[in-house]
Amino acid sequence: MSSTAPPSPIPASSQSFASEPPLVGRAAVIGRLDAALTSAFTGTGRICLLVGEPGIGKTRMAEALEKRVTASGARCAWAQCHSMETEPPLWLWTNILRGYLDTSFADDIRQILDERICELTRFPEEGNLPGDWTTSAVGAGYRVFDAITQVLKRLSEQQPLVLLLDDRQWADAASLRLLSYLVVEIARWSVLLVWTLRTTEFDPKDSRNKHLSYVLGHRRSERIVLKRIAEADVADYVTALFGEADVTLSRSVFEKSEGNPFFMVELLRPWIDEKPPKPHELKLSNHALDIMRQRVRKLNATTRGLLSVAAVIGRTFDLKILSYLVECEEAAVLDLLDEPLANETIVPSSEGFGRFVFGHELIREVLYEGLNAAERGSWRLRAGEALERRRESAREVATTDLTHHFVSALPRATDGEKWKG
Ligand SMILES: Nc1ncnc2c1ncn2[C@@H]1O[C@H](COP(=O)(O)OP(=O)(O)O)[C@@H](O)[C@H]1O
Ligand SMILES: [Mg+2]
Repeated sequence: MSSTAPPSPIPASSQSFASEPPLVGRAAVIGRLDAALTSAFTGTGRICLLVGEPGIGKTRMAEALEKRVTASGARCAWAQCHSMETEPPLWLWTNILRGYLDTSFADDIRQILDERICELTRFPEEGNLPGDWTTSAVGAGYRVFDAITQVLKRLSEQQPLVLLLDDRQWADAASLRLLSYLVVEIARWSVLLVWTLRTTEFDPKDSRNKHLSYVLGHRRSERIVLKRIAEADVADYVTALFGEADVTLSRSVFEKSEGNPFFMVELLRPWIDEKPPKPHELKLSNHALDIMRQRVRKLNATTRGLLSVAAVIGRTFDLKILSYLVECEEAAVLDLLDEPLANETIVPSSEGFGRFVFGHELIREVLYEGLNAAERGSWRLRAGEALERRRESAREVATTDLTHHFVSALPRATDGEKWKG
C-alpha cells in the first residue's frame, strides 16, 4: 500500500502559482481532481477525462495537478502527443513505462521494465489493430497487456501513481484497448489516470471510438468538461496581471476571447509588464489565430468549402439559405454538417431548427479569410438573392430572421470603405 499520505484538499485561494500567470475560474475542476487524487492515494484508482476545445486549459489543469502531486512527494508520468502521425502499437504505454526507468525504484522493477519494453518494441509485427490480431498475436498481446498491468500495479504499491495522458485521443488502437483493460484493474490500486481529450477532434466514424466509449462509460471514469470561463474570471486575470481591476478592458477581452483562456492569454500577452492596453489596442497575433486555422484545416475539403460559404452569411446561418447558395439539397447539406457538428466547429442555434452558429467568431473569421475577394463578393451577391427569394415567400420566414440574415450577409466593418462606392 502507498507510503505517501493522501493530499489534503486544495483551498480555492491556492489556485494561483508563483512566477506563473494565474489560473482563473477552475476552482470546481480543481476540487474534482483533488477528490479523485485523494481517492487514488487511498487505494481506489480513478480515471479522469479532461475534455474540451483547444486552448480551454486541459494541459494547464494537468500541469496544475502535477505540481500538486509532486509537492506531496508522489510522482507523475506524462505521455504527451508529439505528432499526429501513426504510432507503433502500445507506444503510449512504452512512453509511460520508460519514464520510470530513470527512477530510484527497486531493481526488480527496473528489470521487469527493461524486459517488458523489449517485448513491447517487438510487438506485434503481425497486425496493427487489435481486430486484426492473429490467434498467436492475441496471446502475445494479452501477455504484454498483463505485463504492463503488473508493472503498473507493482509501481503503485511502492508509491501512488499519477499518469497524465495529454491529447492522446489519437493513441494507437492497442494502447486504447489496454486503457479499457486497465480501467477495470486499477480500481483497487493507488493510481490516478488523467486523460486530456480534444472534443474538437472527435471523429464519429473512427473505429477506435469503441475503446474510448468503454473508458468514458465506465463507472470509475469521471468526465470533466472544461467550459469557457466567465467574464468575472477574465476580470480576475486582468486584475492579477495589472495589479488593478479594469472593467472595460476585462469586458473587451471576454468578448473577443469568448471565454477561451488561450485567446484571453494571447490578447494580453503583449501587455505583460506594460500598462494595461485600451480595448481597441487588443489584437490577436497571427500565431494565436493558427489554433483556429489548424482546426479548420482538419475539416474535409468539401465541408470546409461549405462552411466558408456559411461564414459569408454570418455567425449564425440558416440551412435553407446555405442550401440555396450552394445549390444543393438541404438533406445533403445536413449530411455534410455532421462532421463540424461532431467536432463543435458549429453548434445548433438556440434560435430554432435548421439554424447553426459557429463555435467561436474566430472560426468564422478564419473560414472567411480563406476566401478571396472575388469569392466573397459573389457569395454575398448570392446571399442577397437568397434573402430576396425568402422575402417573397415570407410565410416561412419571420421578418426578424430576414433582417438577421441580411445584416449578417453585409460586408464586415473593415471592408466598409470598399463597399460604400
Ligand atoms: N483557467 C485558466 N486561467 C488562466 N490561464 C489559463 C487557464 N486555462 C488555460 N490557460 C492558459 O491558456 C493557454 C492554453 O491552455 P492549454 O492548457 O494549453 O489548453 P489546451 O491544452 O486545452 O489546448 C495556456 O497559456 C494556459 O496557461
Ligand atoms: Mg493541450
